[in-house]
Amino acid sequence: MTFKAIRDLLFLLPPEVSHHVSMHAINLLGHTNLSPLMARPMVSDPVDVMGISFPNRVGLAAGLDKDAAYIDGLGKLGFGFLEVGTVTPLAQSGNDKPRMFRLTPERAIINRMGFNNEGVDALVRKVRRSNFDGVIGINIGKNKLTPSEDALSDYVACLKKVYRLASYITINISSPNTKDLRSLQFGEELANLLEGIKQTHATLKEQYEHHVPIVVKIAPDMEEEELRGVCRELLKFDIDGVIVSNTTVDRTSISGSLHCSETGGLSGAPLFERSNRALELVVSELKGKMAIIGVGGIMSGADAAEKIRLGADLIQLYTGFIYSGPDLIEASALAIASANTKS
Ligand code: FNR
Repeated sequence: MTFKAIRDLLFLLPPEVSHHVSMHAINLLGHTNLSPLMARPMVSDPVDVMGISFPNRVGLAAGLDKDAAYIDGLGKLGFGFLEVGTVTPLAQSGNDKPRMFRLTPERAIINRMGFNNEGVDALVRKVRRSNFDGVIGINIGKNKLTPSEDALSDYVACLKKVYRLASYITINISSPNTKDLRSLQFGEELANLLEGIKQTHATLKEQYEHHVPIVVKIAPDMEEEELRGVCRELLKFDIDGVIVSNTTVDRTSISGSLHCSETGGLSGAPLFERSNRALELVVSELKGKMAIIGVGGIMSGADAAEKIRLGADLIQLYTGFIYSGPDLIEASALAIASANTKS
């Protein structure tokens, strides 16, 4: 049975149910001998970014494995790195269901999950118990009930708990599904947040005698001047990397399609151009000064190579992986490796 046939069967189920079924299957296979259908050799295209050695430039984006429950299985599919989370200090159930919608003709997803997760302590236990020994980013956020003005304390609480386990830590301030989270991307709110995070980071770095890179994940929905402002703050606070981008709240590219009026973040093919525009601007401001991770709408090897051509050091997949399965990981890594050989 091909991946496409399995996918078509899974797509008969509601999106969240098929997500759980496939993740459990991946993990089961991860703990046994992966069937040839899922197992993929890791494409070897090593690169050093932020002082970390990545076996290749293709990572799993945050949100697929929010609790790090499936890293043993996901780690066998050929990804050069996995990003787990977003995790919050306390467990929370997220928004009411349905909260994930497939737009199959558009090769897209709209989600308003709202950081459903089991809390940072559970994630830490799972990472400790796993056999995964590759590069792992841990993406942290704030609880829904934490007022915006106390957001820093949630990020600091998570930072402290994941510091020893993470290869890098992502500060997620760009999910559209937690009220007011995105305002942390601007002005004083951003400066105060980054300052507080860097203070805690300095203490942790001294305590563990180890620098864990801090990466900030941003939205694709900013005006150019706003994006430049974010870049200036990231530089000012000596942040190690930036992920461009999270999902978009814009619906222009899918107007008229089924589910287009559902609230939440849009991902997949319709996000590609928009996230690339943000990526280009960030590259022009930050290239060579910090690591840049490109994510958003990668549905083919050519799309992955395009993000690298635009200036990303690494890339991540989410929606494309749902639609194409592990083949996309290999295709992306091969396209990037072959583009790098030519240039
Ligand atoms: C996400 N994404 C996400 N990002 C994040 O930083 N924390 C999260 O918890 C989630 N959760 C999440 C759930 C679902 C169902 C989707 C589809 C996406 C965003 C994701 O990591 C990525 O940035 C975007 O989806 C854009 O990439 P793709 O999907 O177009 O490849």
